[in-house]
Amino acid sequence: ALRRAGNIHWQHVDVDKGARGRIKHQQPRCLWFTGLSGSGKSTIANIVEKQLLAMGRHTYLLDGDNVRHGLNKDLGFTDADRVENIRRVAEVARLMVDAGLIVLVSFISPFRAERRLARDLFAEGEFVETYVDTPLALAEQRDPKGLYAKARAGEIMNFTGIDSPYEPPEHAELVLTTADATPEQLAQRVIDHLKDVGAL
Ligand code: PPS
Repeated sequence: ALRRAGNIHWQHVDVDKGARGRIKHQQPRCLWFTGLSGSGKSTIANIVEKQLLAMGRHTYLLDGDNVRHGLNKDLGFTDADRVENIRRVAEVARLMVDAGLIVLVSFISPFRAERRLARDLFAEGEFVETYVDTPLALAEQRDPKGLYAKARAGEIMNFTGIDSPYEPPEHAELVLTTADATPEQLAQRVIDHLKDVGAL
């Protein structure tokens, strides 16, 4: 269990995220990609990050598989561990937005309640929930890492979509339907959205 520290006060600092972002000529944002394993989150987030970089923006991509190698290597895939995984990465994303960055977060993040908690860490308009909408049958057919096959064979427990739930967003800022578009087209929609809301 987490022990809460007592006697901790918030320390005011004079330089804020607006100032940190302005020297980079950008408005900090958190682009939160959610979707099934194999839905295409990381592929699309990668393309978006490359395009932002080409536009001179300062970005960082937090990816589930990678963060689970370090910060969150103590966590597995039970509901409780996924909740803690998302709590930590949301806090990290907040720190990075505070640093003035455009942060891309690519985690399954299967639970609505945790995505809501993540959103609530950010100012109005800063959090862009992006649902990478791929039907289970299609993700399973693609099976880029062979994990669905293992889950079906009973070699992986608590696999999202098989024996662990995925709750689709109801109010995502963006829905990217992958069945009938290329990752490049969908990445362009993210960039267009950021332009539409004045973030770029
Ligand atoms: S979560 O639900 O947000 O905590 O998951 P995340 O941190 O994004 O990690 C998902 C990646 O871990 C691999 N993997 C699993 N996914 C789902 N369920 C189970 N049981 C599981 N075990 C391992 C898988 O490669 C996921 O990567 P992506 O890129 O999403 O396919």
